[in-house]
Amino acid sequence: MRSRRSCLSVPGSNPRFLEKAQGLDVDEALLDLEDSVAPAAKEAARRNIVAALREGDWSGKVRAVRVNDLATPWTYRDVIDVVEGAGDAVDSLILPKVQEPSQVRWLDTLLTQIELANGLEQGRIGIEAQIEDAKALVNVNAIAGASPRLEALVFGPADFMASINMRTLVVGEQPPGYTEGDAYHYTLMRILMAARMYDLQAIDGPYLQIKDVDGFRRVAGRAAALGFDGKWVLHPAQVDAANEVFSPTQEDYDHAELILDAYEHATTVERRGAIMLGDEMVDEASRKMALVVVAKGRAAGL
Ligand code: GLV
Ligand code: MG
Repeated sequence: MRSRRSCLSVPGSNPRFLEKAQGLDVDEALLDLEDSVAPAAKEAARRNIVAALREGDWSGKVRAVRVNDLATPWTYRDVIDVVEGAGDAVDSLILPKVQEPSQVRWLDTLLTQIELANGLEQGRIGIEAQIEDAKALVNVNAIAGASPRLEALVFGPADFMASINMRTLVVGEQPPGYTEGDAYHYTLMRILMAARMYDLQAIDGPYLQIKDVDGFRRVAGRAAALGFDGKWVLHPAQVDAANEVFSPTQEDYDHAELILDAYEHATTVERRGAIMLGDEMVDEASRKMALVVVAKGRAAGL
C-alpha cells in the first residue's frame, strides 16, 4: 500500500510550486487541475503537469493528479492528456466530487482504454475518490466498492461543508455555536467504515488556515486517532506535522512490538490465548491492534 500520511496539493497552473514540491518530504504530491486552477488556466495546467511529471524528480513520492469533476467539460481531456502524456509517471488519479459508483467505473474504463492504446501496464494507475457532498456520503459504501483501482477515499471538507450548508467559513474547525461534540465525527466515521470495508486508505482533507500549525495538528490528530491514514497539506509548514501525526510514536511502536513478541511466545510455547503483559491483558485482538501499529511504524521507517 502506498503511504499517504501527507498529501501535498500543488496547483498545476504554477510551475514554481510544481518545482518546489519535489523537494518536500511528502508521501504524496497531488498535482491539481481542479479547484486551485482557474478555468482559463486549465489547459496550460495540463501541460505543466505532464512536463513536471516527465522531467521532475518525484522519487520517494506517490504521484497523483486531481482531474476535474464529471459535471465539468474538462474531465475526459484531463485524463487523456495526463495519462497519454505521462502515464508511466502517474500513480493515481484523484476524482473529486464523486457522487455515485458509476463515475468511478467511468474513470476505470477510460484508464483501461488509454493503457491499452498506449502500451501502458494494465491497472497500475489507481483511483482516489473524493467524498465532498451529501450524495457522496450517502453512497459512500457503493463508491468504495466501485473499482479494483480504488486506493483511497478522501474527505473534501470545504466542498462538503458548503454542500450541507454548515454555518462556518473556517474549513476543518467546528462551526461556531456547535458545542456539543465534533461536527465531523459522523462524516469521518462513515468514510472510514466504507474505506475499511474494501481495504482502502482513508484520507482527511485540507485545513485552510495554513499559518496555524497547532490548529492543523489538532485537527489532523482527531482524524489520526480515529484511524485515518493521512491528510492533505497545503503548505510546507504542515508537512512535518502530518508525517508525525499519522505515524505511531516510537513508544507506541516499541510497545506494539513487545505485545507481538510476548503473544507469539504465549501462543506457541505456552499454548495460551490470553496473557498478562505488565498490568495489561493481551489476547488475539490485542495482537491485531499491535499489527496495525507495527505496520504503520515500519512504513514510517521506525
Ligand atoms: C477539497 O477538495 C475540499 O473541498 O475540501
Ligand atoms: Mg473540494
